[in-house]
Amino acid sequence: MTRQRPVPETVTAAERFAAASGFTKSCSREVGRLLAATAAAKPHGVVAESGTGAGVGTAWLHSGLGPAARLVTVERDTPLATRADDAFADDPRVRVLAGDWRLLVPYAPFDVFFCDGGGKRDDPEAVVGLLAPGGILVLDDFTPSADWPPRFQGEVDELRLFYLTHPALTATEVLTSPGASAVVAVRMA
Ligand SMILES: C[S@@+](CC[C@H](N)C(=O)[O-])C[C@H]1O[C@@H](n2cnc3c(N)ncnc32)[C@H](O)[C@@H]1O
Repeated sequence: MTRQRPVPETVTAAERFAAASGFTKSCSREVGRLLAATAAAKPHGVVAESGTGAGVGTAWLHSGLGPAARLVTVERDTPLATRADDAFADDPRVRVLAGDWRLLVPYAPFDVFFCDGGGKRDDPEAVVGLLAPGGILVLDDFTPSADWPPRFQGEVDELRLFYLTHPALTATEVLTSPGASAVVAVRMA
């Protein structure tokens, strides 16, 4: 029998909800552990997520959240936002917003920003601008590329290149599974 690393109950609850509701865009467990580690790195920080979805990424971020940290997440699909709001209702450190990702702006600057729904593609410069000095940006769902500049489906992946080469960031790309990668970028002080 293969042993599995323990997964927080809030994560498995969100995964069950995603499966039951047909939501297929939740982050992987590998990305989730990266999110938990980044949240834990900023125990007094503001941790933000755009695109709550079924709350899987939120639950991973929450699992690493320090006692003095805060977590704010936004989702434009109101039923999804409501479910996440219910799931974290007992924790005053967590705020779930229903609406466009720009509702996050008043909560910036962010010490951790998992930009996963809104912002990443439509306003990358604004995403960078919301980071605190030393703030960590996580972007997942890339396809590993052996080339430089990175390519996706034969074309230069301009979005990935933007984040990997932005002058305000020091950034790297990490494999989260054999077929998927994430960009992890830190805003220079
Ligand atoms: C990839 S899924 C999020 C998965 C989730 N972060 C996780 O890790 O489990 C993207 C979500 O972003 C939401 N979204 C897309 N554009 C948005 C926007 N402009 N503002 C707020 N939410 C948005 C979608 O409705 C969808 O639920």
